[in-house]
Amino acid sequence: MDGNGRWATKRHLPRSAGHARGVQSVRNALEYFGALGTRYLTLFAFSSENWRRPSEEVNLLMGLFVQALEREVDELSSKGVRLRVIGDVSRFEPKLQRMIQQAQDTTAHNEAFHLTIAANYGGRWDILQATQKMLSLDPALIDNPSLIDEDSLARHLSMAWAPEPDLFIRTGGEQRISNFLIWQLAYTELYFTDKYWPEFGAGDMDAAVQWYRHRERRFGRTSAQIHAVAEKVN
Ligand code: IPE
Ligand code: MG
Repeated sequence: MDGNGRWATKRHLPRSAGHARGVQSVRNALEYFGALGTRYLTLFAFSSENWRRPSEEVNLLMGLFVQALEREVDELSSKGVRLRVIGDVSRFEPKLQRMIQQAQDTTAHNEAFHLTIAANYGGRWDILQATQKMLSLDPALIDNPSLIDEDSLARHLSMAWAPEPDLFIRTGGEQRISNFLIWQLAYTELYFTDKYWPEFGAGDMDAAVQWYRHRERRFGRTSAQIHAVAEKVN
């Protein structure tokens, strides 16, 4: 979700106004992808690099996070949303940490829609923490590193319970991953748009989904192989 600040600056508004509008876009995205039948939506809300911003802006973003949890969790839960936060939450204020835990507990029984918020998240951090967890659970691997394979490491990534993403959308004009789910995005279709996040509406989401539908996902195979499998299935 990129472009909140530029959206506001373009309108001679403080950056905080862009972040506030960004929250509305999150609601729109939940509504749109919920109606579409999407089961997994993961939003990159705050990266491990975002601490470098001025402290007032960091505090504002944390405040919006707290507010969103206070206001939205009950309704999300009643709609069958399971909420999870991925990232190193230990750096957040204890109050926010408690609210995150509570939101995860409250919605733990839901499975219709998996909403994940990446907060103080970094893809490199995720791979590192997975490696550390794997080795601490099975120290014998240190003497037999060839036993480690992609699946055994991936089981400890913070989204091990979810399928790998089909579609990645980045708003705001930059064409980079910026340390999002770097392991899981290996075969994901990457969609970039100049639209700023606060103005990214249902029509824009539709455009991204239409674009995705026209992608041919080969996963290393040839186009002819994909067509042969498709004919067999049909
Ligand atoms: C995205 O908008 C929101 C967060 C990273 C929290 P930005 O704040 O990055 O907006 P720009 O890139 O400055 O326009
Ligand atoms: Mg940005």
